[in-house]
Amino acid sequence: NLSKLDSSKLQITKIKTPKQPLPNDQLKFGQTFTDHILKIQWNSEKGWGSPSIEPYGPISLDPSACVFHYSFELFEGLKAYRDSKDQIRIFRPNKNMERMNKSADRIVLPTFESDELIKCIAELIKLDKHLIPKDKGYSLYLRPTLIGTTAGLGVGTPTDALLYVITSPVGPYYSTGFKAVKLEATDYAVRAWPGGVGDKKLGANYAPCIKPQLEAASRGYQQNLWLFGEEKYITEVGTMNVFFVFKDSKTGKKELVTAPLDGTILEGVTRDSILELARERLDPNEWVISERYYSIYEVEEKASKGELIEAFGSGTAAVVSPIKEIGFHGKDIQVPLLEGEQFGQLTRDVADWIAKIQYGDEEYKDWSYVV
Ligand code: COI
Repeated sequence: NLSKLDSSKLQITKIKTPKQPLPNDQLKFGQTFTDHILKIQWNSEKGWGSPSIEPYGPISLDPSACVFHYSFELFEGLKAYRDSKDQIRIFRPNKNMERMNKSADRIVLPTFESDELIKCIAELIKLDKHLIPKDKGYSLYLRPTLIGTTAGLGVGTPTDALLYVITSPVGPYYSTGFKAVKLEATDYAVRAWPGGVGDKKLGANYAPCIKPQLEAASRGYQQNLWLFGEEKYITEVGTMNVFFVFKDSKTGKKELVTAPLDGTILEGVTRDSILELARERLDPNEWVISERYYSIYEVEEKASKGELIEAFGSGTAAVVSPIKEIGFHGKDIQVPLLEGEQFGQLTRDVADWIAKIQYGDEEYKDWSYVV
């Protein structure tokens, strides 16, 4: 009879001297944290322990703990926004909890009741509310993390785990702000493959991506465009999902396209939000919204015919990130931007649609969880 994660058992120990908020212009992504951490221990014989909120600080683990050796680690990224009435709104936390449980299940770490964790996270946010920045582009980044803590070098199912949540006041993800990026299409390394775990938010998916990114950077590109297979399908960009906009020069019909969720693509909450809003808001006489395979060759060909209109990455951290150029096999494919701007029309519209909902200027379904 294992205990379930139960928010009613939450115990709170407050910090003695609370931090003062930093001015917005000093907030670098994920560099400063709030005063408190939420922790929940799990054990295979007892189930979930009582959640606790404690002063933020180091965690002590046995050096043989399985997280350090076999990557029993997964995480989430979601944000809480301060609205014009100073209420705090978490954007679609149920989607992140759903994905976190899928990641946990895949690497035999314990799953939990999503609503209960959301309630605990809401308490954490309330305690540190004074550190949540105001203004467009600013928010509180939430980082739920689950690790296997079993000591010992045998490879097997973890018998102990720790779920913790830390929070970081953030501004725009890229220090350059909403600025279009140059990508290098990478085909010598792959991010994910069929039957693999590329659709799960495992830390192990991220470390191998830095070296190819450094190589791209050495040639003047900020990020990688990840390709897959002989066909050189476009999958993701950096740590984000990616969208392209094409326009058929004969019919004038436009297409918003992104790769399908076939197990190699992270199930992005921003990706999902963009698709839903685009299907609802773009005129079907003018647009088709596609989740389909498309390759760098198709993009290259469309660009040569003037049919490539826009491209942007999507993720929680940056929300949308416009793309201006893609290097592929020594050639650069240019992606148009609006005259004198750093983005295309749809990129800007999508960013506005989502920001309005995140900051509570518009109520949309159950996408905001008010703390
Ligand atoms: C994203 O939100 O786009 C990310 O993947 C965040 C990153 C810091 C891991």
